[in-house]
Amino acid sequence: MADTPLKIMGLSGSIGRQSKNGMLVDLALQKAADLGAETHFWDLQEKPLPLVGEEGCWSNPIVKEFQEMASSCDAFLVSSPEYHGTMSGVMKNTFDWVYDQHIGGKVFGLMSTLGGMSNSNTLNHMRIMLRWLHANPVSQQLAVGHVKEAFDEDGGLVDSDVDKRLRSLVESVMKTATMYRDS
Ligand SMILES: Cc1cc2nc3c(=O)[nH]c(=O)nc-3n(C[C@H](O)[C@H](O)[C@H](O)COP(=O)(O)O)c2cc1C
Repeated sequence: MADTPLKIMGLSGSIGRQSKNGMLVDLALQKAADLGAETHFWDLQEKPLPLVGEEGCWSNPIVKEFQEMASSCDAFLVSSPEYHGTMSGVMKNTFDWVYDQHIGGKVFGLMSTLGGMSNSNTLNHMRIMLRWLHANPVSQQLAVGHVKEAFDEDGGLVDSDVDKRLRSLVESVMKTATMYRDS
């Protein structure tokens, strides 16, 4: 097991890879890949998850694919925009499609972006939600405030301290997930 790369899934609470959350998840996944992980970004633009409860949702093949992908992953790197002091509806709906059987006992790294000042509301709400799913977010977390100014033209983080924190979060997720998997 020790030589098998960790499989890490990226989830964004905004639709599209060009959104700030898509960019942040992509950056986190790049760092994980640099450290040897096999990474998978779930792109809601390519594979939209239906709203839980809408007509036909229970037999939607994309849902099955999503659940199978989640089940096959060891860890998750997740970022949500803060909307009205909490995670986006898109983020919550994404999590409403997984249960303990898919992500229970697995390791999460949590990130959030805000238009205004950085705070931990969304991160804390995601942590509480993940408790109901028996998943294990690491203690490190990252909130990126004033997100419109946070990225440079190449999609990197302007503030090198924020980039360091992102790397530390990814390292912690990978270390913890390796420990869980190989114990
Ligand atoms: C409906 C809505 C509610 C928002 N509420 C907040 C908020 O409570 N606090 C805040 O700092 N920014 C708020 N914002 C700004 C978003 O957090 C910001 O646009 C987002 O993090 C950008 O990421 P994205 O490009 O992935 O959408 C809100 C934006 C929208 C559309």
